[in-house]
Amino acid sequence: MSSFVLKGDICYSISKDTLKTIKNGYCVCENSLCQGVFEKLPEIYKNLQLYDYEGKLIIPGLIDLHTHAPQFSFRGLNMDCELIDWLNNNAFSEEAKFSNLDYAEKAYSIFSDALKNSATTRACIFATLHKEATKTLMDKMEKTGLVSFVGKVNMDRNSPGNLCEESADISAKTTQEWIENSINKYKNTYPILTPRFIPSCSDELMKKLKALQQKYNLPVQSHLSENKDEIKWVSELCPDSKSYGDAYNSFSLFGKDAKTVMAHCVYSSDSEVELMKENGVFVAHCPASNTNLSSGIAPVRSYLDKGLKVGLGSDVAGGHSLSLFRAISDTVQMSKLYYRLVDASAKPVTFSEAFYLASKGGGEFFGEVGSFEKGYEFDAVVIDDSILPHPQELTVSERLERAIYLNADFSGIKAKFVRGNKVI
Ligand code: GUN
Ligand code: FE
Repeated sequence: MSSFVLKGDICYSISKDTLKTIKNGYCVCENSLCQGVFEKLPEIYKNLQLYDYEGKLIIPGLIDLHTHAPQFSFRGLNMDCELIDWLNNNAFSEEAKFSNLDYAEKAYSIFSDALKNSATTRACIFATLHKEATKTLMDKMEKTGLVSFVGKVNMDRNSPGNLCEESADISAKTTQEWIENSINKYKNTYPILTPRFIPSCSDELMKKLKALQQKYNLPVQSHLSENKDEIKWVSELCPDSKSYGDAYNSFSLFGKDAKTVMAHCVYSSDSEVELMKENGVFVAHCPASNTNLSSGIAPVRSYLDKGLKVGLGSDVAGGHSLSLFRAISDTVQMSKLYYRLVDASAKPVTFSEAFYLASKGGGEFFGEVGSFEKGYEFDAVVIDDSILPHPQELTVSERLERAIYLNADFSGIKAKFVRGNKVI
């Protein structure tokens, strides 16, 4: 259990509207938990090891609530399609390659290195349907020191022959073997049930996944109401469901007793939003992906006003960048277009709100994570924004906003701590 002090210009969210900053302050980690932030270092902490990052920004580690590790290889390629064509033309053919463990080894090394070197300290990650390659990804994620939920994907229908499990039985059996192998194997890497989305999972498979969810008390991740054609398809596949979310709910894989994160929620109906709120389902807002695949603009302002649990996702490779800095500025920008072009009553998301979503908002999926309040797990990122010189005086929060808009996470990350361990 590590204990130490970080000194620098500290910035963290208390709530979506309150961004706290302390210039030249002290952030204390004791037994891997945050003891708070201080202007002057209290006597009792004077003997702890001090990391002096004077003049640098210190923020909580950021949380990527939704990304696809096997898609990292083709990020920024073939972006001229909408969801269903993009899946068929790009995603599925790349994911099929992960039956080859040598390929998985190479691709997942590149992915895990990139995530380690980003401002992200925690992530919810889709692998592919391949059990062995998913284990490879989990081994590599564990080595990064980051905390992650990793999912072996389930898909037993409406999928190409080289990326489709033979039956619900085989899919569930393989999933159970993978869970048994991974559930107690790691310190920082955990299995999460991952039915890809309703179109690729038969009713029989969903029932079997619920049984596994209960048996092992696993969280769940999937996709929800991302694209209009997809939603229409789901309504045809599940004629008895009141909404796409209700289809997951009919298998009890939508919050309540199964902690759940759903990516996108661009076109969630009122009743679907009500159900998400009632069941405590997390929304992973993925603005870059929603733009690249012409999916639409998710009404984040209304989710915030309604008190839904919301965080941000890179959704690589629908999103082309793993950067949560980028997801923060995209969130603000997309909300401005929504306000101007769709609904003038939906005030744009502020920088403070978007930073909150990337830290404390998404962090809640992992427990008390994403802030420097007392008792929070100690995840921190140190950014050297002197790589972005400026002639004028700027406050700490202005420096943070600018560092995020100007992508200082590409070369400005000086140190990173996860659960009190220094990983960079
Ligand atoms: N829906 C089902 N699979 C996917 C995927 O891989 N990416 C995105 N963006 N949406 C999906
Ligand atoms: Fe996705």
